[in-house]
Amino acid sequence: MAMGGGRDDRGPSRLRLKGATVTHHRWEQVEEAADAIRARWAGEPKVGIVLGTGLGALASEIEAEATLPYPEIPHFPRSTVESHKGQLVCGRFAGHCVLAMEGRFHLYEGYSPWQVTFPIRVMKAMGCRILVVSNAAGGLNPLHQKGDLIVIEDHINLMGLNPLIGPNDDRLGPRFPDMIEPYDRGLQETALQVAREANIVAHRGVYVSVVGPNLETRAEYRFLRGIGADVVGMSTVPEVLVAAHAGLKVLGFSIITDMCLPDALQPVKIEEIIAVANEAESKLSRVVRGVLERGPI
Ligand code: HPA
Repeated sequence: MAMGGGRDDRGPSRLRLKGATVTHHRWEQVEEAADAIRARWAGEPKVGIVLGTGLGALASEIEAEATLPYPEIPHFPRSTVESHKGQLVCGRFAGHCVLAMEGRFHLYEGYSPWQVTFPIRVMKAMGCRILVVSNAAGGLNPLHQKGDLIVIEDHINLMGLNPLIGPNDDRLGPRFPDMIEPYDRGLQETALQVAREANIVAHRGVYVSVVGPNLETRAEYRFLRGIGADVVGMSTVPEVLVAAHAGLKVLGFSIITDMCLPDALQPVKIEEIIAVANEAESKLSRVVRGVLERGPI
C-alpha cells in the first residue's frame, strides 16, 4: 500500500504520513479542534454529515452560519483531491443544527486511518449524536442496478487497517467496542420508508471496504460477493468504526455507480462513476432530508 511516508525512528507503531506523525486520537487535540470551531460558531450541532461522493448537493442546502476551511482547524488533515473542497460547514439543515464535512479523506490518498477519522471525534466532542455518511460504490448484487441507493445495514472491513489501533483513551470510547449494530436500525427503517414514499429505489445492503486505489479483479469481485457483500468501496468504514467507538448513531448510504459482476465486467471510467454519483445526488439529499425532518434525535 502506498502510504506516502515511512516508519520513522521513534518506535515501531509510528507511521509518518503526509508529513504528520499521528498514531492515535488524543483527547486534548480533539478538544483543541472543537474549541477552535466554538470560537467561530456558537451552534450546538446534533448531526454530523460526511458529504462523500453523492452528497455534494446537500452542502448547498445547508443554511450555513459558518464555513471553516480545514487548514484553519487545529489537527485537521488537508484535502488533496481537487473535487473535494475541504471545509467544515456549520449551520442548519432539515430542522437540525448540523456540522458537515465538505471534503473527506481516503486511505488511498496516503492519509492514516487516524487522520481520516479525526473529524468524527470532533463532531462527537461538539455534541453530535448522529453521523450521516455516504459513498460511491461498486454493485456486487446482481439484483441491484447502477444508480440505486443502498442503505448500509452492516459492513466488512477488508482494508487491513483500523483507526482504533493504538493506545485507547477511555474518554473517547471503550478498548473493545462491539459491532452488534454499527448502523442504527431505526434510522435504516426510516430511510427506506422515506425512499419508498418518494418512489426512490433503495435496498438494504452490506458494504465491504477495500483500501484501493485500484478497482478489483474479477476474482476479487467473486470473492467479495461470496463473503456476503452487496457493495464495495474505498471509504466509510474507518469513519463508522470511530463513530461506533464514540457512541454515535450512524446512517450510511452507498450510491451504486458501476456494476461489478465478474462474468459481465465492463471497463469503468472514473468520469462515469462521478457522473452516476452526481445524478443520484438529488435522490440521496431528499432521503437524508426526509429522515432528519422526521426528528430522529
Ligand atoms: N470498487 C471499489 N470502489 C468503488 C467501485 C468499485 O468497483 N466503484 C465505485 N467505488
